[in-house]
Amino acid sequence: MKHPDIKEILISEADIKKKVSRMAKILNKDYKGQKPILVSVLKGSVVFLCDLIRELDFAPVLDFISVSSYADSTESSGVVRLLMDLRESIVGRDVLIIEDIVDTGLTLSYLKRNLLTRKPKSLKICVLLDKKECRVKKIDVDYTGFVIPNKYCVGYGLDYCQMYRHLPYIGVLKPEIYRKPQ
Ligand code: IMP
Ligand code: MG
Repeated sequence: MKHPDIKEILISEADIKKKVSRMAKILNKDYKGQKPILVSVLKGSVVFLCDLIRELDFAPVLDFISVSSYADSTESSGVVRLLMDLRESIVGRDVLIIEDIVDTGLTLSYLKRNLLTRKPKSLKICVLLDKKECRVKKIDVDYTGFVIPNKYCVGYGLDYCQMYRHLPYIGVLKPEIYRKPQ
């Protein structure tokens, strides 16, 4: 059932499930026998992380990091701040960043630069969604789920003003929702 605030479903629950399984299969090949640290970028990537890890054959270590660039707006401010750091040391470890979406690329560029200073053995990036046409900063993504158009989307972890993360699909909000005071 479509939420009343959603104008259009961009990616259905079934299509997300299929894609996540396909991505897990590739990761299972690439990380076979390894114990990488999966760095989940809070909060948007947690739904993706939870579905992905349940299809992994290797033993990942989970850690979380929180950065902010948006401050409740639908456009990037261009300023990335570290809000919460990792618990684990990543020195000499294989690290895989798990992110919900890459848009301007500023967040992932910042994270990559920051984590590389800690000397991991390897550092790769896995994103569910890629708004390729919005890129401001070049960033190489190793694993991508869907390339999507430049539309602000919610659901499957993605929020608007901290809402709609629980929706099992990815959708676009009705325009009047952005104008309403939350
Ligand atoms: P970037 O730094 O512009 O690449 O933006 C990355 C971050 O902005 C993501 O981790 C999301 O938290 C947020 N973001 C970008 N586009 C969307 C969107 O369409 N919906 C919800 N959050 C988004
Ligand atoms: Mg995010």
